[in-house]
Amino acid sequence: MLPPDGRVILISGANRGIGRAVAEVLQAQGYSLSLGGRDLNSLKTMSADWEPSRLHIARYDAADWASHREWVDAAAARFGRIDGLVNNAGMHSAMTLRAPDEAALDAIWAANCKGPLNLIHCALPYLEACGAGRIVNVASLSGKRVRNDQVAYNMTKHAMIALNHAARRIAWDKGVRATALCPSFVRTDMTASSAALPPEAMTQPADLAALVATVLALPNNATVAELLVNCRLEDTL
Ligand SMILES: NC(=O)c1ccc[n+]([C@@H]2O[C@H](COP(=O)([O-])OP(=O)(O)OC[C@H]3O[C@@H](n4cnc5c(N)ncnc54)[C@H](OP(=O)(O)O)[C@@H]3O)[C@@H](O)[C@H]2O)c1
Repeated sequence: MLPPDGRVILISGANRGIGRAVAEVLQAQGYSLSLGGRDLNSLKTMSADWEPSRLHIARYDAADWASHREWVDAAAARFGRIDGLVNNAGMHSAMTLRAPDEAALDAIWAANCKGPLNLIHCALPYLEACGAGRIVNVASLSGKRVRNDQVAYNMTKHAMIALNHAARRIAWDKGVRATALCPSFVRTDMTASSAALPPEAMTQPADLAALVATVLALPNNATVAELLVNCRLEDTL
């Protein structure tokens, strides 16, 4: 396993939900973290007690293309290296084919696809330079199958799986490894109004965070391309 000491991980959308759980686990394990998000106050509040020498906070708004590179380069300037990227920030949409909305489509495409793609692009030279770069793309089981009518969310998460496999190919020879994390229902704000399952029956963010920590630490010759996580039985996955 790769030791966390000195390794620098970027996490998008770290202020709540799955991203926050990942940040909390990784900081407890000794990683240096750069947390990117729109809500800088909540990032500062959640990390108020953390070791300052291992913490960097920056603005990341998927809808603001310039903020992607600004975050990555600021993190590299702060720590002198980047070893991993957790593409977690994302949004849901209940849009169906019966009521498409162009502006809403653009927003979810930016959050779930364009932002993650450009963050990988910006971080890639640093990930290559370290020889064991890691990318975790928080996709979804909605990127592996379609079992509801929420076409925009399902499309963007399928696209994120394609992004993940593109990332696996592009710098394999330089030790970069990518994993698509594909949960079903997770107990976060995103599912707070869902009646599909009681919250306690959903996957808990801390359990996903433990999985992310594991794939980040696996050596180059034990990589996991896709990690499918069920909270209920599905016919095929
Ligand atoms: N919850 C589930 O059941 C579930 C299942 C499978 C996959 N996922 C995926 O897991 C990831 C995290 O979701 P979650 O459940 O933790 O949701 P959440 O609690 O709603 O958190 C979403 C995070 O993404 C950030 N975000 C959203 N749009 C953004 C944008 N345009 N630019 C920058 N940041 C943005 C949010 O920032 P703000 O606080 O500023 O809004 C927040 O930090 C998402 O990619 C989601 O699709 C979730």
